[in-house]
Amino acid sequence: MGRSFVGKNSTTPSPARVVLSIFVMILGFALVADFFWASSSKFTSSYLNIASNWSPYHNSIILPNNGPQKGENIGVKTKKDVVPKRILPATFQDLPAPELKWEKMKAAPVPRLDGAAIQIKNLLYVFAGYGSIDYVHSHVDIYNFTDNTWGGRFDMPREMAHSHLGMVTDGRYIYVVTGQYGPQCRGPTAHTFVLDTETKKWQDLPPLPVPRYAPATQLWRGRLHVMGGSGENRYTPEVDHWSLAVKDGKPLEKEWRTEIPIPRGGPHRACVVVDDRLLVIGGQEGDFMAKPGSPIFKCSRRNEVVYDDVYMLDDEMKWKVLPSMPKPDSHIEFAWVLVNNSIVIVGGTTEKHPTTKKMVLVGEIFQFNLNTLVSAFYPFNILCHPHVKCS
Ligand SMILES: *[C@@H]1O[C@H](CO)[C@@H](O)[C@H](O)[C@H]1NC(C)=O
Ligand SMILES: *[C@@H]1O[C@H](CO)[C@@H](O)[C@H](O)[C@H]1NC(C)=O
Repeated sequence: MGRSFVGKNSTTPSPARVVLSIFVMILGFALVADFFWASSSKFTSSYLNIASNWSPYHNSIILPNNGPQKGENIGVKTKKDVVPKRILPATFQDLPAPELKWEKMKAAPVPRLDGAAIQIKNLLYVFAGYGSIDYVHSHVDIYNFTDNTWGGRFDMPREMAHSHLGMVTDGRYIYVVTGQYGPQCRGPTAHTFVLDTETKKWQDLPPLPVPRYAPATQLWRGRLHVMGGSGENRYTPEVDHWSLAVKDGKPLEKEWRTEIPIPRGGPHRACVVVDDRLLVIGGQEGDFMAKPGSPIFKCSRRNEVVYDDVYMLDDEMKWKVLPSMPKPDSHIEFAWVLVNNSIVIVGGTTEKHPTTKKMVLVGEIFQFNLNTLVSAFYPFNILCHPHVKCS
């Protein structure tokens, strides 16, 4: 058992609670959020408009072979000598998998895009996030899984980032690292905080050496690790890796220590400690950037490449490559849970649709069985998919 997951593992959660928990997370942080971004370059469409425009892509799309086109670096396979057609990758489609039944829960008090979520025992803390592209939240809401209610709203520090945060808990203290400060496509701040969830008091931690945007963040062997993410322009993948010794919400050092860089940089990855090993899963390179010269840092779309990679750091302090996910998956930093010695990842975003170029959501749950690290992720379909009505 990962010692860093006291909150998640100290009581064995019932499968129902785990499912509910991850459903809340995914609903709040990936599905609604990313549709909002993905489907409108002006960021004005409501979720419902977007959802009703959604159409499932169940068949392969075969296009004439015009050769690879500009901007299409998403693994188009060209069978040059065999058939004069190219078959587009199927990763944006749903994978065949058993379907799970979902129960609809109480809607969150506010919509949040690219916020953060941490579960401690029966409480889910949700932080920050965009309310709209021009408005960011600066408060925390709490969901109580015991009576299924939202409540306990409280403020974040003024200097704390509003989206794309690195976040992790030891079961009482929540460490909040760097992230984007302000709405639209503003850059990140290096400010870093810790929240005592028992007193709801915030304290400063030493700022990260350089601001990062959606870095992978975990507690491992008594140290707060922060790695990857994007640089200050939101786009450039960074591979730096730092750590800071912490205990009971207090830094034990004045400065962050430089650690072994991660093989691939970029934001929006799941980062999990289990069996004293640190795993970094999926994510992407590239993201929206501020339009040059825009006084409001207006977001403009840039190329993004989504990954299925899984990397692991262990005793040897050398990165090792583990089996990949069945499809590339990003925006999953708060969409995972440890259950029954498996990492379970719910939803996320995958490669853009090859013709519409819109961001595509992942319709599956992936389970990575840690008893047999060599086995791959297993998919389960999310029945309550945006294009499938929940009943
Ligand atoms: C969660 O709900 C239960 C049942 O109503 C209640 O006893 C408990 O105090 C609540 N927890 C918090 C932190 O509000
Ligand atoms: C946990 O794993 C064991 C062994 O693989 C399996 O028999 C059991 O059904 C699993 N339990 C749940 C709740 O998934």
